Amino acid sequence: MKKINILGIESSCDETSAAVVVNGRIPLSCVISSQIDIHKKYGGVVPEIASRKHIENIDTVTSKALSDANLELKDIDAIAVTSGPGLVGALLVGISYAKGLSLSKNIKLIDVHHIEGHICANYLEDENFAPPYICLVVSGGHSNLIIVKDYNQYEVVGKTRDDAVGEAFDKVARVLGLPYPGGPNIDLIAKEGDPFSIDFPKVYLDNTYDFSFSGIKSSVLNYVNKAKMQNIDINKNNIAASFQQAVVEVLVNKTISLAKETSINKIAIAGGVACNSFLRECMYNKASKEGIFLKIPKPLYCTDNAAMIASSGFYLYSQNKYADYFLNANPNLKLVDFL
Ligand code: KG4
Ligand code: ZN
Repeated sequence: MKKINILGIESSCDETSAAVVVNGRIPLSCVISSQIDIHKKYGGVVPEIASRKHIENIDTVTSKALSDANLELKDIDAIAVTSGPGLVGALLVGISYAKGLSLSKNIKLIDVHHIEGHICANYLEDENFAPPYICLVVSGGHSNLIIVKDYNQYEVVGKTRDDAVGEAFDKVARVLGLPYPGGPNIDLIAKEGDPFSIDFPKVYLDNTYDFSFSGIKSSVLNYVNKAKMQNIDINKNNIAASFQQAVVEVLVNKTISLAKETSINKIAIAGGVACNSFLRECMYNKASKEGIFLKIPKPLYCTDNAAMIASSGFYLYSQNKYADYFLNANPNLKLVDFL
């Protein structure tokens, strides 16, 4: 099989990333410049600062991705860039840069949906994992249950009706006074807490694969405020562990139900929250009990990175799906509209 080298570029939020991936599966490099330390002091991502930092970093990050891969632009078959969803100013930096490279070096340009990128992270460093499968997408902006019918063929069967899972983790962390981004810090302190100490609501929403996380977020907020008013000390570890237990239980049960209902006995998880150690453990335990195969990317490829964009770009390249120079950022790009 001919080797197709795709250069991926990702700048949809607070990570500037570039990577080179061969045939959608083999990463030769993946450079990620995180802005977490900059945004930390504001308690969340400041869009204008994010765009400016992307501009400062994108050329260095891309050059490093090429040199780490021991390749030059002449060796690249196509440039895949995230076109949405995300922060419009941040997306525009990656898109403009990719267009410039594409035009000046006559390299094909491919636009990638950020969530499709997260899903394709499951192909990295894996020769065999392939559709059809059920994918649970859990990121800072999305919570979806998706049937991946084939490469580039998706049926979105569940979405959140309010907050995304990552958003709920980040908001609960903020209530507990933990630094941004909250998810990893909740994960960490929850290990020291009792997951059954507080009974936070588990919202299943009957007869649908949709999710809702704003109720549990408010419930944690009320619990903390009530304790403060009554001058009662709170146990942050127990709150984090109980919150995580409630959220993870719903995510795991709904995903397994969909796999059973569709008789698709392969599950994948994607997005930043897929780094969560409790989610990984619980999904693994339940899937093995049900005889369902589970795939989760390694943490580096769960949070935002360009290798996943390059992987997705390869499958679009294989179907001759290229972008033209009218390509624009779409902050609200929907997965199904994109296809
Ligand atoms: O996919 P991602 O990097 O960016 C988006 O596309 O949104 O996801 C970021 C989200 C944040 O909300 C972050 O708190 C969450 O993923 N996250 C985690 C963990 N690591 C990252 N949430 C729970 N546990 C973790 N270990
Ligand atoms: Zn993401």
